[in-house]
Amino acid sequence: MRVLVVYGTKRGGTEGLAAAVGQGLVDAGHTVDVLPARKPLDSLVKWEAVVVGGALDVWFWQRDARRFVKRHLDELQQLPVWFFSSGPLDDSASERELPPPPSVAHLARLAGAQAHKTFGGRLVPGGKTALPTGDWRDLDATRAWGRAVGAQLATMPVRERAHVPQAMSAVHRLVLGLCLFTGITAVGGGLALITSPPRLQGPPAELLEHSPFDSYLIPGLLLFLVIGLGNLAAAALEARRIRGSEVAVLVAGAALTTWIVTQLVMIRTVSWLQLVYFLIGTVTLGAALWLWLVRHRLAPHRLIPRS
Ligand SMILES: Cc1cc2nc3c(=O)[nH]c(=O)nc-3n(C[C@H](O)[C@H](O)[C@H](O)COP(=O)(O)O)c2cc1C
Repeated sequence: MRVLVVYGTKRGGTEGLAAAVGQGLVDAGHTVDVLPARKPLDSLVKWEAVVVGGALDVWFWQRDARRFVKRHLDELQQLPVWFFSSGPLDDSASERELPPPPSVAHLARLAGAQAHKTFGGRLVPGGKTALPTGDWRDLDATRAWGRAVGAQLATMPVRERAHVPQAMSAVHRLVLGLCLFTGITAVGGGLALITSPPRLQGPPAELLEHSPFDSYLIPGLLLFLVIGLGNLAAAALEARRIRGSEVAVLVAGAALTTWIVTQLVMIRTVSWLQLVYFLIGTVTLGAALWLWLVRHRLAPHRLIPRS
């Protein structure tokens, strides 16, 4: 099989780890391309499996590796994928299995990675720090891991390879669109309620008869801040697939449905617009719940500890 090994590096050390993983995959009989994550790729269509590695820097992967995963997420979700990290400079990674930091575990779950492995870090000559330099770390274990991945890949049943539901990207785009639509229209509606002179252009004041409010100022502020900005914030988080973004979308959907139900109770009239927004709120809620389940439970995390 043709396998892509892609790495994100700041000081060059992870490149050596990626090369050793690549050699292991070649040992196992695969054809391998080892490329830096900063090299832009139009698509991953040439490859049948991908190994992504990133240098760890204060609990996050180096930026190019993070961007690679997010840019190619749709394709990665349909391929067998493995992750590795270039970790601590001491011997801790060879002494025991080090779990990925939460940010990397999140990416691994999004991509449906089969496994994650932390290797000891390396600093290459010319590295910008005063720490020991040189190709000093033994790469046999890294190559052996590449071989093991290669062997696993060769024997994996085809049905195991496309394990993330195809609908995941469509649902992601759906909630993004719904949150944006709700956010923009609620910001507009909220501003209109806040600024409309009472009893002139605003909705009739009689509608507030069964509510604790005597003007539209507070409902307008709630609509603007909670529903409007809340949905826009959820859309921004979901757009970047920040860890926990589906929870933000879930809260935004719940806020919208609660808003409509509260309106119905207080205003005691029903309009088609309320029904439309109630539907949008429930679809947002349901879709966010589905995303949460898929991302946290159903996506394979066989060797990735949940965090
Ligand atoms: C300034 C600095 C910060 C680092 N931070 C971490 C860290 O937070 N966690 C970790 O496991 N390793 C950390 N390391 C180790 C690096 O991940 C390791 O050296 C890596 O191999 C360097 O990769 P690169 O040369 O490909 O950029 C750090 C290294 C340096 C020099």
